[in-house]
Amino acid sequence: MKQEHKLFKGKTLAILSGGGDTPAINSSIEAVRNRASILGFKVYGIRKGWKGLLGDGDVVNLTDQPYDGWYGGTALRSSRTNPFPSKKNPESRVPQVLRNLERYKIDVLVTIGGDDTNGAAKRLYETEGIPVIGFPKTIDNDLRTRTMHNYNGKEIEAVLCPGFPSAAKSVSEFAATIKTTAESHSRIIILEVMGRDAGWLTGTATFGGASELALIPEFEMTRERKDFFFEIVKEAYMNSPKKCLVIPVSEGVRWYDDKTGKLDVVYASSEVDEYGHPRFGGISGVIASEISNKLGIEARAQITGYHARSGYCRHYDRRLTQTLADKVVDLLLREEYGMMPVMSKMVPFIELEEFNTSAIDMGKVGNKPLSEDYFDINKFQFTDAYKNFLELVLEKPEFSDFKYDFPVVIPG
Ligand code: F6P
Repeated sequence: MKQEHKLFKGKTLAILSGGGDTPAINSSIEAVRNRASILGFKVYGIRKGWKGLLGDGDVVNLTDQPYDGWYGGTALRSSRTNPFPSKKNPESRVPQVLRNLERYKIDVLVTIGGDDTNGAAKRLYETEGIPVIGFPKTIDNDLRTRTMHNYNGKEIEAVLCPGFPSAAKSVSEFAATIKTTAESHSRIIILEVMGRDAGWLTGTATFGGASELALIPEFEMTRERKDFFFEIVKEAYMNSPKKCLVIPVSEGVRWYDDKTGKLDVVYASSEVDEYGHPRFGGISGVIASEISNKLGIEARAQITGYHARSGYCRHYDRRLTQTLADKVVDLLLREEYGMMPVMSKMVPFIELEEFNTSAIDMGKVGNKPLSEDYFDINKFQFTDAYKNFLELVLEKPEFSDFKYDFPVVIPG
């Protein structure tokens, strides 16, 4: 009889996903599961993020099960549960987590998440010695992955997180399609885009959209900057061939309120999650109404919202997650825990290969703003360097402009 010599036979690896979903999480789960299985691990899925390790636990077996990695969202479900004490929940749930890791005999934990989920995992590794490996995930693309982008010989610190390429495709298509209604009514549409405190995703809406103008959270809209912005908007509208603009704005833009004299983001609700984050939303309505009132141009607000997070995993993300999962194998073999695989440089689809990856400390990697090289604050426009960054992960949306013009009829 053939002998099985699998390195991790008898060991169990468990995967969880926490925080906001992305279209690339199932692909990440499948890729990690497949590689861990080949190494001999039994692979479990923990449902609903850290919540699945509380109480009696909520754990499923992924070993030898069919899995659809193209399907968006996360089949393991997600939550924003924090095992550590927080303002919202002052009691530590770490003892429950440890108890369940023991009960289910979990040897290694892979946490798919952003700064919150991976930060909590890193704390468990540091304080309790739990072997953890992080896996990046966010449509906001704001984790400090230290992915270098070589643009015309200059090295720019970029970010590349699974989930962003798929969200970028959806948002760019959304912006490209919405311009037909903006054209029909000669309107300005203010297109609000998720991304929390970073403008990475907002830039994708200028790709194939009806304007180059955009607002991002990295640059505050003080009273003076607002006035300057309105002047630029008016000029761009007057010069636009079809008298219409689609202007993407980040949900996290800090905007000067004429009535209160305060500069703040617009909040969707006063609630905060267990990591202390409030929910943003509604800035597009504020800006659209100010444009209508101050410039006398018809303006409307449209929120792209959860559309960015929805739908299936796009090709770039599929290969990106598989490449990063290859690096997870390397980390498992070396028993290097507390680390997260990342791409070391920005590469096109075909060069997404394990030799272009590296591993970084998975703790405290959040909130990497857009690099200054990517946005021109005087023009309110993304730069050619940003466009080049985006071209690596995205093809231009396929919607062309209406090509025909008609001769004007003179009566008589
Ligand atoms: O962090 C991802 C994200 O989609 C942000 O862009 C957005 O602000 C937030 O999550 C929305 O969170 P929720 O799913 O809790 O509404």
